[in-house]
Amino acid sequence: MGATTVLGGVGHAPELVAALARATEGAASAGREWFGRGDKDAADGAAVAAMRAALVDAPFDGTVVIGEGEKDAAPMLANGEKLGRGGTAYDIAVDPLDGTRLVAAGVPGSIAVIALAPRGTMFDPVNVFYMDKLICAKVGRGVVDLRKSVGDNLIALAAASGKSVAELVVVVLDKPRHVRLVADIRSVGATVRLVGEGDVAVAVSAASGEVDLVLGVGGTPEGVIAACAVRALGGFMQGRLAPQSPEQIRAATDAGHDLDRVLELDDLVSSDAVLFVSTEV
Ligand code: FBP
Repeated sequence: MGATTVLGGVGHAPELVAALARATEGAASAGREWFGRGDKDAADGAAVAAMRAALVDAPFDGTVVIGEGEKDAAPMLANGEKLGRGGTAYDIAVDPLDGTRLVAAGVPGSIAVIALAPRGTMFDPVNVFYMDKLICAKVGRGVVDLRKSVGDNLIALAAASGKSVAELVVVVLDKPRHVRLVADIRSVGATVRLVGEGDVAVAVSAASGEVDLVLGVGGTPEGVIAACAVRALGGFMQGRLAPQSPEQIRAATDAGHDLDRVLELDDLVSSDAVLFVSTEV
């Protein structure tokens, strides 16, 4: 099992931080048992069970807002589930394994992660599994915007960062849907770093300035979890719901979502009192 990261821990009870760390460490080590064994569902199931066992008695009154959810039809850590033995009321976002395919393939890079924020402050992406994301450090605030072209954003970010466009590193999930995005980034001379899976960890890298920007479509649940980390790090993030098929578009509009709306960090999580804990598998 790898390192545990705590972001936004200041102001939270040490027992709460310790309980979340036990949960992510438990999930990471349960997932690790399946490292390289080619079975992503078993890896995920083991991590979910370990995380849930650790959270049942945690010192809070938690409601899962971002859980295993409808996409995986998971029985545990489902959206709406109550966790904890009582205390302050929190929204809970979990991803017991972000990067299940990496674990199955025996490739490093996945994490077990939990984020929490005061009850009622997390965006609930009912029925929408994908989100277009733009994430960077605080230098990007007022500089980059999802409504602008990729080229304009990179030129503006380079100027604000005191770098040339050629020095910018942009992380993108390596998915067929991003062929055009990757070409657009390269066409202005910036470097693309492709990662197979796991966009929560790359959001942390971008918000802390280790890389310059994250762009592209990833999971909506991961987007809300990432928003908690970005908020704790003082970074910049925008999202826009991005259903990927006619069925998904219908489900999203039936749920009342405005698919043109750019979600600001405040829309994704509206409190500064966030806590984000992750453990590398
Ligand atoms: P899980 O391991 O939790 O399934 O997610 C891995 C992941 O890479 C996320 O980090 C990312 O947001 C999402 O999948 C992208 O979805 P898809 O692989 O369907 O494009």
